[in-house]
Formats: sequence, C-alpha cells, structure tokens
Amino acid sequence: MHRLEISDLITAVDPHTGQRLPVRRDEVIRRLRANGDERAAKIVAGLPADQDGVLDPRAVDRLLISVHTELQRLSEELRIGERLMHLLGPLFTAIRATGGQGGHSGPYRLVDVGCGLGYVIRWLAATNALGADVELVGVDLDAALVGEAEQLARVEGLDCRFVHGNAFDLPQAATVYVSTGVLHHFRGPALAEFFQAQAASPAEAFCHFDIAATRLAPVGAWIFHRARMRHPLGRHDGVVSAERAHSDEALLSAAAVPGIRPLVYEPRGAANPFCTTLRPIIGVRPYLEAPLRRALGRSERRLVDLEHLAEASR
Ligand SMILES: C[S@@+](CC[C@H](N)C(=O)[O-])C[C@H]1O[C@@H](n2cnc3c(N)ncnc32)[C@H](O)[C@@H]1O
Repeated sequence: MHRLEISDLITAVDPHTGQRLPVRRDEVIRRLRANGDERAAKIVAGLPADQDGVLDPRAVDRLLISVHTELQRLSEELRIGERLMHLLGPLFTAIRATGGQGGHSGPYRLVDVGCGLGYVIRWLAATNALGADVELVGVDLDAALVGEAEQLARVEGLDCRFVHGNAFDLPQAATVYVSTGVLHHFRGPALAEFFQAQAASPAEAFCHFDIAATRLAPVGAWIFHRARMRHPLGRHDGVVSAERAHSDEALLSAAAVPGIRPLVYEPRGAANPFCTTLRPIIGVRPYLEAPLRRALGRSERRLVDLEHLAEASR
C-alpha cells in the first residue's frame, strides 16, 4: 500500500460547489496511521486546530503556499518551462499546420490543470514563448494557491489568467491541456477518468509532466527535498510523490482512450536515471501525430508508444 500525501488530506472542497469543507485533524491522523505512516501523523498532529478539532483553514493555506513556493524552485532547477516548450513549440506548430481540423483555427487556449502557484503559466507568459495567439490559463481546485498565482501574475505584469475550479468544467474549452506534478495524485480508475475527460473535450492534445518512476526517484526526491524544503510536510510529500509515481506503461495504458494517440517522450529506459526526474505523457488527436513528429525533427525518435516501449527501454 502506497503512503498518502499529507497535502491531499488537509484540505477538502465540495466537488460540485467548490466550497471549502472542514477537515478534522484527528480524522487525518487516523487515516495516516491506518496507512502505517506514523511520521506523517506526527506532522499533522502539530498543525493548529480549533476547539472542535477542525484544522485552521488559514494556517493550512499559509503552509501550502509556502510549500508550493519551495516547489517552484524545483520547477526552476529542472527547467520545466524550457522542457515543456521543447514539446509545446512543435505541438502548436502541428496544430497551426493542420488548419484547425479539430475546429481550432486560433486563437488557442492552453490550460494548466492543477496549476498551484502558476509557475508554468507565468513562465510561458513572461517569455511569450507560445506567441500572442495562445491564451494562457491556470486552473486549480485550491482557492488559496490559485489566488496567490493570480496575485503573483499581477505583480509581474503578465498576460495570463487563473481560475479557481475544476479544469474540466471551464466554460471555454482548452486547445491543449498541460500539467506538472499532478498525474500521481490520480489513483485507480481516477487516472483513466482524467484522460477520458480530455478525450471527451474538444481539446486537440495534452502534455502532462510527472515524476518518472525510476528506482532512484524516491532517493533523488529524498536528497532534493531534504536540501531544498524547510517544512517537514514538503519533505514528506516530496518523497511520497516519487514513491507513488506511475510507470510509463501504466500512464500509456490509462491514456489509451478513444480519439487519443498516447505517447511518452524519453521513456524511463531510454534516459539516464540520474538525470530524468520528470517526463511527459503526451496525447494527440490521431491527425496530429505526423505533423508533430515532423515539427520535432530529430527529436521525434524520443516519442514512443506503448507497443514500442520495451524496445526503446533496451
Ligand atoms: C501537487 S499540486 C501541483 C501544483 C503545480 N502544478 C506545481 O507543479 O507546483 C496538484 C494540484 O492539482 C490540483 N488539481 C487536481 N485535480 C484538479 C482539477 N481537475 N482541476 C484543477 N485542479 C486540480 C490540486 O488542487 C493541487 O493543487
């Protein structure tokens, strides 16, 4: 049984209204103990609660914002903006070249699912890397994180926007969905449902970066989070997220939904395990695969489907 991430347990929202729900500290502690994680239970026991034992929502928000601020450093050090652009550049070239086969002749919309503090969207806005015809939108179920993202973007004078809510319930459809560090939060049937929601939408493609499930990932995460994160919650969740990382096979199988061609870029076996910490699962409408490969040039060899995964890993 995998350990649980504390940050997934200390906030709760009504999935229909988006309204914040009270979270009882002893209930979180009970769940963590039942899962055999005494250290996590101790961390939660140290969080402030009111006389009814409900966790203080403002203290929880402050803590999660500070942990995500530290997480942003991970994104900076891993050059996640550049790595995302290495694929999004060719992807938008392919989308523009197909002349709107999916009904998208521009302007386009890029939606970051679970944007947290919006690092990726703010990086794309600051560099104007995708061009003026791509609207940049970050969406998160957590009101405090998305509020902070909005404020940072305003201070930085960036042309992008942030929305509190479910990324798949937006009034305007995305052309491309992206995410970073989100996939491992979806367990069991929720992972396939995540990909099905995108296949059922008018989106043309998705590109989701998450921790590569290498043998070294939990050790690497331990070293990095020990060195970089101050709060024990950030350290704990960083290692647990590496332990919970999905394999390339699991992601490609879950993303194999009708109307989507699932591919992995630089699968685990093809990469140096010391260097790769995040790699993307890409899904494109079938008519986009050939133009995407053309736009990638020599790098197209690194784009692998489930059928060729074993070969690429040799
Ligand atoms: C670990 S955080 C990742 C934050 C950010 N992407 C980063 O790299 O720092 C995962 C976030 O996904 C959000 N989330 C999960 N499912 C979502 C959905 N369907 N729509 C919007 N946000 C979602 C959660 O609220 C959580 O804040």
